[in-house]
Amino acid sequence: MKKNECDTNFVKRLFSYLYARCYNFLHPAKKQKKTFSDTFEKEIFEKSLKRTDINDHLLTIYRESIQINPDLIVELGVRGGESTFVLERVAKKCNSILVSVDIEDCSGISNYDRWFFVKNDDIEFAKGFKKWCQRKSIKPEIDILFIDTSHLFHHTKEEIKHWFPYLSNRAKVIFHDTNMGFLIRRKDGSYENGWDNKRGVIRAIEEFCEKKFNEKIAFQEECKEFKITHHPYCGGLTILTKKGV
Ligand SMILES: C[S@@+](CC[C@H](N)C(=O)[O-])C[C@H]1O[C@@H](n2cnc3c(N)ncnc32)[C@H](O)[C@@H]1O
Repeated sequence: MKKNECDTNFVKRLFSYLYARCYNFLHPAKKQKKTFSDTFEKEIFEKSLKRTDINDHLLTIYRESIQINPDLIVELGVRGGESTFVLERVAKKCNSILVSVDIEDCSGISNYDRWFFVKNDDIEFAKGFKKWCQRKSIKPEIDILFIDTSHLFHHTKEEIKHWFPYLSNRAKVIFHDTNMGFLIRRKDGSYENGWDNKRGVIRAIEEFCEKKFNEKIAFQEECKEFKITHHPYCGGLTILTKKGV
C-alpha cells in the first residue's frame, strides 16, 4: 500500500471511529416488546440487544435455519461465537450436527454434544471434508452453510468453489459481511466500525451468479439454482436458498 493511501485510510478509520462512538452514545438502544416462538428465540433476541457487528442478523439466521429443519450445519468463521450461539440453538432444536471451522482455536465456544470444532483453514478442510464425514459416519450433505471468515474476494470465491458441491438440494447458504465499509450501519441507525474489503464477499457472489447487485439496498433476486435475499444493514447478510425450498 502507498504512503498516501495508508494516511487516507488512517484518517477514514479515525473519523469513522469517532463518528460511530459519538452517534451511538447519543442514540442508545431502545427497549422493544416481542413475542417468541420458543425459548431459543428469546435467548437469541436477548443476545441481539447488545450491539455488535452481527447483532441485527442473529434472529434472522435462527429463523431462516430452522425453517428447513437441517441435518448438517457448517459454520466457517467462529471467533467469539456470536453466530455459533445461534447455530447451536438451531442444532439443538432440530437435532442437527454442527461443524464449526476456524484457523484459530475456538474449541471452547460450545459444549453441544453434536458439535465438532475443526481448527484448520476452511479451504484445506473442504478438500478432505468427504473423508472427514465418512470417518464420523456423517452424510456429507450440508443444509446450512454459514460463511463469515476473511471477507476477501479470492478467498470467498474459493469458499464457493470448494463448499458449494457439498450443498444438499434444500440448502441455504448464509454470507455475512456482504455490505462492508469503514462505517457499518445497524437497523436502529447506530454504527459499527468496519473496514473496506473492496466488496470482496458480494463481488464473489456476483461472479458466481454472473449478475451485478446493489448491496446498499435490500433485494430479492434469482441466481442459478438459488433464490437470493439480501439485508443491507449491520455489514450485510445475503442468503442463497435452493429453489423449491
Ligand atoms: C468475522 S470473524 C467470525 C465471526 C463469527 N462468525 C461471529 O459471529 O462471532 C472471522 C473468523 O474467520 C476466521 N478465518 C479467517 N480466515 C479463515 C480461513 N481461511 N479459514 C478458517 N477460518 C478463517 C478468523 O480466524 C476469525 O475468527
